Amino acid sequence: MPEGLSWPCNDKINSALAPAHATLLTQGPAQDAQSAPQVHSQKLIKVLEVMQMEKYLSIFLVNLGLLVSGFSSAFSGILIQVKYHMGNHGIIMPNEYTLGLSYSGWAQMHKVAIVMLTILMIFHLVRHWKWYRIVVKKRLIRKKQQVVTLTILFIFVAVTGLIPWLIDLMNGDEMLRKALVEIHDKLSIILTLYFILHIAKRFKWFLTTFERMAGSAAHSIAR
Ligand code: HEM
Ligand code: HEM
Repeated sequence: MPEGLSWPCNDKINSALAPAHATLLTQGPAQDAQSAPQVHSQKLIKVLEVMQMEKYLSIFLVNLGLLVSGFSSAFSGILIQVKYHMGNHGIIMPNEYTLGLSYSGWAQMHKVAIVMLTILMIFHLVRHWKWYRIVVKKRLIRKKQQVVTLTILFIFVAVTGLIPWLIDLMNGDEMLRKALVEIHDKLSIILTLYFILHIAKRFKWFLTTFERMAGSAAHSIAR
């Protein structure tokens, strides 16, 4: 495989590329119009490489979106907690502005961020569904404690945030809504710590994936 184009996790496309590369290795690049197998292999390699690039670009964009929406959710949530909840004895000051936004502005911002986060998380979890199956099947829960805890926490935080929103939209029981939000804002502090750990451990992934994509793009242009 040409330098900069090896994507170790992309088994299906890599194995599809292998025969075409083998043809090129044994017969060399096409020298004239007659060498049909070589021309075919070169074309196939190009198509598969573009597919590979597109797949990695979409994963990269989803993870980048998660980074932005995860940060915005945590930032807006913690700000509401610190500036509008804490020390106010349950009374929210609607006209108090923080960093240019009022309480309702920050609450809206939190909702926009969590809608984006929830949508991207669905893609993230579908992509890693196999990972969960292996962890459960091979009893690796203890070994993968951190991601498993993050998953459980995320589910609890999402449920205790989204249900109060539904209650609010349907003019439901205000006491229940407040009780759930109380649980939500405590659990979400722990979730934020797990977010930080999860992202810090995988930060290198963003750099290496970006470098690989840039390398592949430069390689395609050069050919
Ligand atoms: C990442 C850390 C998070 C923090 C620090 C946090 C914090 C908060 C706080 C303090 C509130 C109360 C806002 C208010 O007084 O109006 C809130 C509301 C809310 N949160 Fe979060 N949250 C976080 C993550 C999430 C996540 C992951 C979801 C869902 C996937 C979520 C969904 C919601 C919703 C829907 C509300 C509005 C509830 C309502 O007004 O009835 N939050 N959050
Ligand atoms: C909030 C922002 C998040 C970001 C930026 C993020 C980013 C990443 C990155 C870069 C990877 C490795 C590359 C990949 O295979 O995609 C990864 C893997 C993974 N993430 Fe996330 N993630 C986030 C939240 C979450 C949450 C909340 C969960 C669980 C509910 C989760 C579950 C997983 C799993 C299961 C893996 C694969 C196993 C592993 O790498 O250890 N992620 N994530």
